[in-house]
Amino acid sequence: MTEGVSAYSDLVRDHFENPRNAGEIADADAMGYETNPVCGDTMRLTLRLNGGRIVEARFQTSGCPAAIAASSICTEMIRGLSMAEAEALTKEDYASALGGLPPGKMHCSVLAADAVRAAAADYRQRASR
Ligand code: FES
Repeated sequence: MTEGVSAYSDLVRDHFENPRNAGEIADADAMGYETNPVCGDTMRLTLRLNGGRIVEARFQTSGCPAAIAASSICTEMIRGLSMAEAEALTKEDYASALGGLPPGKMHCSVLAADAVRAAAADYRQRASR
């Protein structure tokens, strides 16, 4: 069930058509993989940290335009943050940074928020080893 791309804000279209930080970090310090429970779309997020701050974030998302745009803006928003600060960002934060999402698409930004939380959990687990 894909809505026409014209239903999206200019920012969503821009991030969908020109995704920032797509790809994967080799030897990442943290990785989060999430599946959207509503539709089954997936996001894999890899992070590099330095001094407790996220210095690089890359994503691979298989999903709708809203999910790809949210993944893209997520990688920009979390760069420079601590893991705790990044984890505190919500799906509403990503959606509003994109100029809003159509009502039926709000669930799509949850993928980015969940992938950040999964990466944070992975980071903590690696640190405790
Ligand atoms: Fe699956 Fe948007 S429809 S993330």
